[in-house]
This record gives sequence, C-alpha cells and structure tokens, in this order.
Amino acid sequence: MKNIILTGDRPTGQLHLGHYVGSLKNRVKMQADLENELFIMIADMQALTDNAKNPEKVSSNVLQVALDYLAVGLDPKRSTLFIQSQIPELAELTMYYLNLVSVGRVRRNPTVKSEIEQKKFGESVPTGFFIYPVSQAADITAFKANLVPVGEDQKPMLEQTQEIVQSFNHTYGDVLVEPKGVFPEKGQGRLPGIDGNGKMSKSLGNGIYLADSADVLAKKVMSMYTDPNHIHVEDPGQVEGNMVFTYLDVFGTDKEKIAELKEHYRRGGLGDVKIKRYLIDVLEAEFGPIRARREEYAKDPEAIMEMLKGGSEKAQAVAAKTLSEVKQAMGINYFN
Ligand code: TRP
Repeated sequence: MKNIILTGDRPTGQLHLGHYVGSLKNRVKMQADLENELFIMIADMQALTDNAKNPEKVSSNVLQVALDYLAVGLDPKRSTLFIQSQIPELAELTMYYLNLVSVGRVRRNPTVKSEIEQKKFGESVPTGFFIYPVSQAADITAFKANLVPVGEDQKPMLEQTQEIVQSFNHTYGDVLVEPKGVFPEKGQGRLPGIDGNGKMSKSLGNGIYLADSADVLAKKVMSMYTDPNHIHVEDPGQVEGNMVFTYLDVFGTDKEKIAELKEHYRRGGLGDVKIKRYLIDVLEAEFGPIRARREEYAKDPEAIMEMLKGGSEKAQAVAAKTLSEVKQAMGINYFN
C-alpha cells in the first residue's frame, strides 16, 4: 500500500545523535521503500511559538537542520523537504480547525502541559504555543498523511489530530485522512545524553551533534559518564548506566566484541580510556561519512535554500489542494 508520511523538526538547534537513532535513521529507511511518499517539514512556525522574541534562533537553524537531513541521506529527489512558514495554507487550515477544539481540550494536552510547566509560562503562555497541537493537525492533514513517525512525546498531538479529523469529517463531510502515529520501538526512542542525565537534549548541553568535528566528538566521548566507582583500572566496573556501554549497545555492530568488553569491564582490568577509544571508533564509522557529506553540502548554502524552495513549492501545491477541498466542504468556496 502507498503511504503518505509526514514528519518534521523544530529548527531550534542542530540535530544530534538522539535525533539520529530516534527518527532520522528510520526516515532514511522509509525513504528506501518506493511505496512511501515522504514530506519532511522544518517546523519554523511551531518553533516560533515559544521563540517569538528570538526569531534569529529559528531562522538561522533552518539551514542547519536541512544540512543534517541531507547529511544522513534524506534525498530531495525522493522526499519533499520544506519549510513550514512558506506554506500559508497551514495557517489557514489551523484557523478552521481551532473552531472544532475547545479550550478545555487544548488545556488537557499532557505534552503541552508539561512544556508550559517546564518553561514556567503560567498564564503568560503564548496563545500560539498553547494551540500548537492544532497547528500540527493542519501540518499532518494538509498532506493527507496516513503515517506520522514521531517520538513518544508526540502521542497527544496525534490523538488531537485524529479527533479533529473525525470532527471535521463528521461535520462537513469526508475530506481529511485520519493519521496513525509511528512510534519508536521499545528502547530505541531515547538516547541518553553523554552525562547520563535523561535524554540527549540541547537544553541539557549533553549532546553529540551530527555536525561535531572528529575532535569534538572524541572529547565528548572522553568526558562521558561511566561508573563513578571504577577508579582504578583493576576495579570491577559497572556496565549498567555506564554511557559508554549504553552507546556501544546502540551503535556497535560487533555484538560479540561488546559482550567480551562488558565481561572484562565487570571483572576489572579494563580501563575507561580503552572502552572510550573503542566507542570513538564505532561512532566514527557511522558518523564520519555523515559529517563529511554535511561539510560538502555546507559549502553551497544557496543550493540548499534553492532545494528547500523547490520542496516548499511542491508541498504548497499539495496543501492548497486540501485547503480547497476543505473550503468546499465547509461551503465557503464563494468564488468558484
Ligand atoms: N512537534 C514536533 C517536534 O517538536 C515537530 C512537528 C511540527 C511535527 N509539526 C509536525 C511532527 C507534524 C510531526 C508532524 O518534534
């Protein structure tokens, strides 16, 4: 069956290894299946909902995210890469969807709720931020996506979208497609940061970025959280909660060697520097070529913007068609 897949990222920073294992790798895999049509969106409009006073942070990261996409192998010939703000149809759809969603319903969204708490917004939460799940429903439905691969935290957005689709179709007639969320398999979704404190994230400053040089990557691995009680090489060490082994489990291909290293580490006599050197090799094997491609693409930013322009035009044509069907169903297509 042909799938229409839509997903995206807020351009608030460069993408890191957490993004890579949690979503980018899977997108590249889906792209390889010719039955799949992919729309990959740089969600700058959504990023602006809590960065209104700092638009430069958002706009400057659009190119960075696009470079990350290309570097990991998303191919503009196969997937439509586009910028959300360049598709005004999405804002228009949002306005109509907002009428189908109560304030009480928006307030109950657990992800938005915890973000409001985290950011200490209280009553001064920007309205645009408060209702971004509705705008996300517009992103998804504009392309009639049936699959939306996202992280676990995006489950409430999918539920909200499904409700809007049901309400719209029930009220105005069958126009919209109800999407399904595709969530990472157990244990795949969340890569912890190098400090072992929760997931890798920009705000925690515990990330390894796709754009990091070989030097920076090596330094970050050397500073990784291991076993604080493993003081002398001879000491028995703990593998559980040791970020070097956590990362080896995620990125390593030689499972036998990793099992041996774990054994040795537990027994004692295997130093942190040794296992860190091995992890550096493992990461370089996967991310060295990605970094090299990124550097190549970064030489010609104009070509990247040109590619995004083409993708945005293509995306806009699709969204315009859906919007026209939406307006027709609502009976507000006065002039045609
Ligand atoms: N909320 C998503 C995130 O923070 C980004 C996003 C915006 C998105 N619109 C979307 C994801 C539509 C999937 C579908 O990562």
